[in-house]
Amino acid sequence: MRAYPSRFYDRYFVGVEGDVDFYVGQFHSGNGAILEVGCGSGRITLPLARAGAEVVGLDIDDDLLSLARAKLAQEDRATQGRVVFVEADMTDFDIGRRFAQIHIPYRTFQHLLTPIDQINALECLADHLEEGGLLVFDTFDPLAEFVDDGFNAPLRRDTDFIDGQTGHQVVVWYSRDVDPDEQIFEQEMVFEEVDTAGKSLARTFARLTLRWTSRWEMEHLLAGCGFAVETLRGDFSQGVYPGYGNQVWVVRKE
Ligand SMILES: C[S@@+](CC[C@H](N)C(=O)[O-])C[C@H]1O[C@@H](n2cnc3c(N)ncnc32)[C@H](O)[C@@H]1O
Repeated sequence: MRAYPSRFYDRYFVGVEGDVDFYVGQFHSGNGAILEVGCGSGRITLPLARAGAEVVGLDIDDDLLSLARAKLAQEDRATQGRVVFVEADMTDFDIGRRFAQIHIPYRTFQHLLTPIDQINALECLADHLEEGGLLVFDTFDPLAEFVDDGFNAPLRRDTDFIDGQTGHQVVVWYSRDVDPDEQIFEQEMVFEEVDTAGKSLARTFARLTLRWTSRWEMEHLLAGCGFAVETLRGDFSQGVYPGYGNQVWVVRKE
């Protein structure tokens, strides 16, 4: 089962408030070429390129990359010329060049389900960063009490939207199972297309398995892989990290 149905990606996976402006702002604060890891449908890649960044967008999912390429083809020539998409696994890749910045937006790092995978990815990313280059990424860690009481969720209706291709209403159903020992949660989603009479026409299933990492665990991982923490914030507006929730990291290759 896929993690992300590309057909519905841009309607359902809309990011975290302020993330696009934040990542574009990171480019403006440093300039230089950017490797965006887990670029998906290009939700952040394209605004970066429109802002003048040269971007390599890397992703493991060929369906999402096809969507990103189709969206890029709608852009002007100059923007198109600044973007290359690459299919690769962030734990093991070599694209033969280094970047001023590496971005890993929208909790993509949480796809790494073991500390070994996290280390492999961080080491590979360090190899692709210039000396002193920045790694910028965001993750989410739930409050411990929340994990014990309420983070599990049985299947329930989450939201709905109109599919631009068919005009059908798409109702999204969502459930979440948590394994606190492994720090892993699994989200199952059903995208149900219905007609105007409410008749079910089709269902698309998706399963997203993600790992959360505590602040201190992350600090150890980063230090062990040659990164010094510049800032950890709790949101994309410079908010203080309150000990749980969004972690927005800016770290420098030493
Ligand atoms: C939440 S989406 C983020 C997509 C996009 N950056 C955005 O903000 O909309 C996570 C992305 O990470 C990709 N991904 C997951 N595991 C990966 C891996 N091991 N290597 C590269 N990409 C991966 C998924 O295919 C997906 O496109």
